[in-house]
Amino acid sequence: MSEKPLKPFHLAQFLVHGPTYHSLAMWRHPKTDHTKFDWRKPELYQHIAQVCERGGFDMVFFADLNYISDTYTGDMGPSLRNAVQAPEHDPVPLLSYMAAATQKIGVAATFSVSHSHPYYVARLFGTLDHLTGGRAGWNVVTSINSNLDNNYGADRLPGDQRYDRAHEFIQACNALWNSWEEGAVVMDAKNAVFADPSKVHRVNFAGEFFKSRGPLNVVRSPQNGPAIIQAGTSPKGRDFAAKYSDAIFAIQPRAEDAGEYLRSIKERMREIGRDPNACKILFGIQPIIGRTEAEAKAKQQEHNDLVTVEGGKAILSAHMDFDLSQFPDDTILLERNEPELQRMRTRYRDKDGRPMTLAEVARRHGQSVSLAQIVGTPKSVADQMEEFMRVAGGDGFMLTSIYTPGAIEEFVDEVVPILRARGLVRRDYTGSTLRDHLTQFD
Ligand SMILES: Cc1cc2nc3c(=O)[nH]c(=O)nc-3n(C[C@H](O)[C@H](O)[C@H](O)COP(=O)(O)O)c2cc1C
Repeated sequence: MSEKPLKPFHLAQFLVHGPTYHSLAMWRHPKTDHTKFDWRKPELYQHIAQVCERGGFDMVFFADLNYISDTYTGDMGPSLRNAVQAPEHDPVPLLSYMAAATQKIGVAATFSVSHSHPYYVARLFGTLDHLTGGRAGWNVVTSINSNLDNNYGADRLPGDQRYDRAHEFIQACNALWNSWEEGAVVMDAKNAVFADPSKVHRVNFAGEFFKSRGPLNVVRSPQNGPAIIQAGTSPKGRDFAAKYSDAIFAIQPRAEDAGEYLRSIKERMREIGRDPNACKILFGIQPIIGRTEAEAKAKQQEHNDLVTVEGGKAILSAHMDFDLSQFPDDTILLERNEPELQRMRTRYRDKDGRPMTLAEVARRHGQSVSLAQIVGTPKSVADQMEEFMRVAGGDGFMLTSIYTPGAIEEFVDEVVPILRARGLVRRDYTGSTLRDHLTQFD
């Protein structure tokens, strides 16, 4: 490896408040020690936050889904048998627990705009930003899945309208976060003035989907609202991400496709007059580390074999909101024209570019949600991460584990020292908020 020095990577740890993350094998992996930590209890997550902070990560990051999917076959059995992102407990309460056990690391959670009101969300994340001292992040998702709509007794909105609604949602939140000017809280006990009324404003937000009079009843927070994270792949999703987000979580298994994705976001940012550097793109990877290459490969095999084709098809169907049980396992997905199958097209090839069958795509989706498995010794994993960044460009990685606890510890103890020696992972946090971390290397 050669050429131009890379900037240090922004690292985030992907989590779910549940027994599986991106790997459906996680809950039954022999190294996942349910007796040491219970996934339903805060101690596991506090431990993870501390390990990630030791590794200089920007943040821990929770996905969130509000349903148990029956998209595959119309029955919940496959999801329940395979723990297909089910159960998932609410991650938001954990953010406070994790922040209380750490000093610097950002704590971010997904919250869907599909079935909530901006006032509630602005208040929730404003409060969290205070509780965490400016370390809160919100992953703004539109959640395409009819199981979710059914849980909230709502009709499904078409994809385009979901993003129109999401734009309005975030604009309303921004207006509410800005309803308290800086310096509005004066706490002048002598003259009996808590807040200066001239610095607290009604927002009178009136859009097509939402109205809110305001002001927020939460005072201006350290980041003035959380850092915004996004994860959309459609053109409208990319527009949304380019406009508002401080960071994007992207899944592109092949570095070439990751590069194309990155350029499309940065181009959009230029078009709307936003500094392309203002949004950091983090590509998802699943590190699998061994003392030797052979040990790492054996570990990958052991892990991947634990994922059933049924589980894979169930999670893939859920993510597409499309029942794949109608196709035989040897279907080449790249040859299908159904609109629902087009969004994930870059996930239908193996790492050498060969089109995969439904069974192959499904199993890989169940193993890692199709993000790249980076397998090898600590040095080889560090090399591969460096290579990915050189080919794709980008700002860093969202890491996902194959078992817990253990996998994050291995990465932090064995790979991070190598990356630090190369100047690719921070040694110290220079700021105190999540936005500070995301802009530390600008
Ligand atoms: C990497 C990634 C992560 C996502 N995480 C979540 C999540 O945790 N919860 C959720 O409800 N939706 C999640 N979504 C779904 C998106 O919010 C969105 O509904 C979906 O990607 C469709 O929009 P798109 O066509 O622009 O990609 C995720 C999407 C992507 C690409």
